[in-house]
Amino acid sequence: MQKFIINGGKKLSGEIRIQGAKNSALPIMAASVLCGEEITLHNCPRISDVYAAMRILTYLGCKAGFEDKNAAVLKAETVSETNISDELMREMRSSVFFLGAVLGRTGKCRITLPGGCDLGPRPIDMHLAALRRMGVTIKEEYGVLDCTAENGLKGANITLSFPSVGTTENIMLAAVLAEGTTVIQNAAREPEIADLAGLLNSCGAKISGAGCGRMVIKGVKKLHGCEYRIMPDRIVCATYLSCAAASGGEIVASCCRPSDMESVISIFEQMGCIIHSSEDKIYFSAGYPLKAVSPIRTMVYPGFPTDAQAVVMAALCKARGTSVFVENIFENRFKHVGELCRMGADILAEGKTAIVRGVDRIYGAKVCASDLRGGAGLVTAALSAEGTSEISNIRYIDRGYEEMENVLSSVGADMIRV
Ligand code: UD1
Repeated sequence: MQKFIINGGKKLSGEIRIQGAKNSALPIMAASVLCGEEITLHNCPRISDVYAAMRILTYLGCKAGFEDKNAAVLKAETVSETNISDELMREMRSSVFFLGAVLGRTGKCRITLPGGCDLGPRPIDMHLAALRRMGVTIKEEYGVLDCTAENGLKGANITLSFPSVGTTENIMLAAVLAEGTTVIQNAAREPEIADLAGLLNSCGAKISGAGCGRMVIKGVKKLHGCEYRIMPDRIVCATYLSCAAASGGEIVASCCRPSDMESVISIFEQMGCIIHSSEDKIYFSAGYPLKAVSPIRTMVYPGFPTDAQAVVMAALCKARGTSVFVENIFENRFKHVGELCRMGADILAEGKTAIVRGVDRIYGAKVCASDLRGGAGLVTAALSAEGTSEISNIRYIDRGYEEMENVLSSVGADMIRV
């Protein structure tokens, strides 16, 4: 099993080029199923979840692979399989996007419940309810969901009870080739939604209002191929800024989109960090000592992202004063807290709330990642700790971060993979 070994206490300095967004790449890769022609995705991150999506595409009879460093080429000329195996479904949560895409292309799809990081219960009831409104019959037996749209998918008016990111994306995938118009009210507004719409519209779809609460999708008969550049990963950017904040460094994050990150940037400013942004760069200088911040409540976009909670919490472990986190999106997203406490952090987590009392020092320790962003939080803490940390279970981190040890070493971290 691979581990990261980190000798903490090194200030970070230099430039980090921010990778393409995982949460954009995965639904976009599923979208390639809807299109019979070739799609070239630039800025596609080489992370394990992307390779898992490629395995699903290959299993479905499509072509999928990297052509160049970060250029992925996908072609779904024929879709010869519509049952996705349990093994593939369990590899990641985003396997669920293939439901909307395969249904949209073929009118049928059989899946089991998706896997992914354990953040508490992650039902797909809203995905299924929306697809039913679009004319899909869903038979659920022994954990298998047999979905068919016998008379084809039909546009529908769908109002979401919560602006779920995945549900919005699955509806978009099912709706682009459906007959008629689909209107999604209370749609998610995350930037990755607009990126998926950007790809689909580049292939000839008719989607308007993506990124707003109300989206209109006019069904078209066919999609064509395109070349598309995946947006920068705002959570990866928040992670490396947290690392710099925690370790007292000064970095430039390039090829990013600061306008997507305002809620996170304002927290770093409260910590006392100095930030200047241009259109695609963030110049970041850590404050010393870091200051505690006003309560952070995770929210849907443009609120503070749940995915940045763990890394920002790790950066606040040594801040002067007490910071409070309220996790409103997922039920079980404080698994990193126990591991941060092993390193000497003073954090009390109860229910949705975690109280972080800043300490003077944290220490290197043997800790274990239990989910993707929590694992990144442990790396953030280890960089600011005295002594050596050993982080195990880094396969979680590899799901979303491209060669994290090389990126951080390139700006001065003492970090290796063994
Ligand atoms: C996506 C992101 C994930 C991020 C999350 C919230 C991807 C691949 N993943 O996950 O990184 O943390 O958005 O920003 O883009 N829910 C239901 N029923 C459903 C669907 C969702 O109850 O059918 C609940 C979930 O359990 C959760 C909340 O709604 O409590 C938010 O989930 P959602 O916005 O759907 O997140 P994901 O798409 O899973």
